[in-house]
Amino acid sequence: MGGLGKTTLAGKLYHHLDVKRKFNCRAWVCVSQDYNTHDLLLRIISSFGFKTKKTKELNLMNEEGLERYLHESLQGCSYLLVADDIWKKEAWESFKRAFPDCNNGSRVIITTRSQEVAEVLDERTYAHKLRFLTFDESWQLFCEKAFGNPNANSVEEQWKTLGMEMVQKCGGLPLAVIVLGGLLSNKTQLEKWKAVRDHIWQI
Ligand SMILES: Nc1ncnc2c1ncn2[C@@H]1O[C@H](COP(=O)(O)OP(=O)(O)OP(=O)(O)O)[C@@H](O)[C@H]1O
Ligand SMILES: [Mg+2]
Repeated sequence: MGGLGKTTLAGKLYHHLDVKRKFNCRAWVCVSQDYNTHDLLLRIISSFGFKTKKTKELNLMNEEGLERYLHESLQGCSYLLVADDIWKKEAWESFKRAFPDCNNGSRVIITTRSQEVAEVLDERTYAHKLRFLTFDESWQLFCEKAFGNPNANSVEEQWKTLGMEMVQKCGGLPLAVIVLGGLLSNKTQLEKWKAVRDHIWQI
């Protein structure tokens, strides 16, 4: 589902110090619904920071040439690729040839909303399905956004009750909790909170 935290989790992994130490080179590419393989390959090469060829020279190469260049550049290197937000399995198929299997611990992380993409990639794929947040996790996230404090200790009871009622409606979806918290953070009258609550109840 959109807004569940796939990109956030992949980002945390990608920037984690232990992960950085483990790989010789890393690249992050956002794929999305409308992608162009040539452009994707260029962006991946640029994200890895392979600079033996000039940008102008790379732009003039065709897809096959770029795949070969990427493949050669990755030889002997333990790499991590994050391909964020893949919609169709053809997207990964279109550039996976460029990634050598050197049996050296290299990894590709794909984030997707599609069950089909997650499951049919290949037999060595591990699919991690994200769960929704628990109510307590949602409440803490909401309080950070709405009150600027994860505990909301000093917040009056009636605000908390209203907040909890609305957080419950978010169904554990982080994006919904964050948007709600942001929306309410600048509303300083309880009446305004009630207006938002009444609107949410209608949806
Ligand atoms: N576990 C979490 N704790 C706190 N905030 C989170 C968590 N997961 C996601 N978020 C927040 O929720 C929002 C949506 O997350 P994210 O963009 O990662 O979702 P997504 O699953 O990649 O969505 P999409 O399918 O649209 O790409 C972001 O603002 C992110 O900061
Ligand atoms: Mg995402």
